[in-house]
Amino acid sequence: MPGRERTDVTTRALDGRHRAVVRMGNPVLRERAQDIPHDRFGTRFLRDLGRDLLRTMFEDNGVGLAAPQVGSGVRVFAYYVPGEGDRDAVPPRVLVNPVLTLVGEPTELGWEGCLSVPGLRGMVPRHPAVKVSTFDTDGNELTFEAEGFHARVIQHEHDHLDGIVFLDRMTDMSSLMFEEEWEQYAKEKDLPVEV
Ligand code: NI
Repeated sequence: MPGRERTDVTTRALDGRHRAVVRMGNPVLRERAQDIPHDRFGTRFLRDLGRDLLRTMFEDNGVGLAAPQVGSGVRVFAYYVPGEGDRDAVPPRVLVNPVLTLVGEPTELGWEGCLSVPGLRGMVPRHPAVKVSTFDTDGNELTFEAEGFHARVIQHEHDHLDGIVFLDRMTDMSSLMFEEEWEQYAKEKDLPVEV
């Protein structure tokens, strides 16, 4: 997902390298990504992929980036949540083979965009919370719960691992708009603005 300008995050990710983000139309975005086999945990391949995702996410001003978006069909994504208003920050992290348990109904509307669908914004209904069971790049297990914008980012990125983009999740296509028009017409309205 694209985010705002990065202001409050320092990262060690800058030792990774920037990778080109593929756009909608590239078949890799429509394929189910493969699990990382456990014998690849802690390998240079996986650590480099994690660092590259973080670096590319920051340099492209995103808040999340999934491996298929850089042409790698594996179940890995990077994200962070910038602290803003009453929203708690979540530091940058990389999830490997994440499994989601969705909480509640997918009825929370919020704006989304996608680095692989550049220039567009749309209102997407998401579950209000998720439980996440995942690994880090070294194979350490991690379980946690996320809600609100944090849960939205995770659902968006996890969808990329299943070949789904945010447009597929939209239920009211009349909210689809270009970023420039979004800034002009939608951003100031009393709507949940969360990209
Ligand atoms: Ni995306």
